[in-house]
Amino acid sequence: MEERQDDGAEKPPLVVGISGASGVDIAWALLEIARAQGVPVHLVISEAGARTIAEESRHALGEFRALADAVPSNRDIGAPIASGGFATLGMIVVPCSMRSLAEIAHGLSSTLLARAADVTLKERRPLVLAVRESPLHLGHLRNMVAVTETGAIIAPPVPAFYQHPADLDDLIRQTAARLLSLVGIEVPELRRWPAAAPSPD
Ligand SMILES: Cc1cc2nc3c(=O)[nH]c(=O)nc-3n(C[C@H](O)[C@H](O)[C@H](O)COP(=O)(O)O)c2cc1C
Repeated sequence: MEERQDDGAEKPPLVVGISGASGVDIAWALLEIARAQGVPVHLVISEAGARTIAEESRHALGEFRALADAVPSNRDIGAPIASGGFATLGMIVVPCSMRSLAEIAHGLSSTLLARAADVTLKERRPLVLAVRESPLHLGHLRNMVAVTETGAIIAPPVPAFYQHPADLDDLIRQTAARLLSLVGIEVPELRRWPAAAPSPD
């Protein structure tokens, strides 16, 4: 686990949602990087997200929770992140299931994760959805259009091969850093661009 930087200044937290889709280790990397950057995190994990962690990740649910500063229950619709009056940097849902995408796209807010996303949109803060499904049907695509029209950023965890990842962990960390950059958290050492890009001809 990385050491946390602490410059003494109180920063507004980043909200991170983990829903039940493949790719939960991207959330793990994102939580680790946020901690190393000194960014406080309020983390909400759906029931299916917890199951996906158990089925897919090398890390236990408790380890995910330990990387965050607050971990309200997904049923706690009275948690601070359910209120627009609670200032945040924005929210990243990673990975974002098609169910959570649909719920957010239609403003249903039946869980804390969906309510926090809805609040992020209404307060005009950045909401990044790392949607994960393949292939996609028209309903999925329509929900992505709807939520984009409301102000969200659809950012599927698509590998950036031009960054020449050394291995899967490197690819995961680069993907997590890209998601963080979309809410204004820059990690230059993880956002490498090829030093000598091949010329187009
Ligand atoms: C191991 C596992 C992997 C899954 N992967 C995906 C996925 O990649 N995308 C997706 O939309 N749903 C996936 N699902 C199904 C969702 O978890 C399911 O639709 C769930 O109801 C989503 O609920 P949530 O949005 O509240 O997390 C997966 C389920 C499991 C158990």
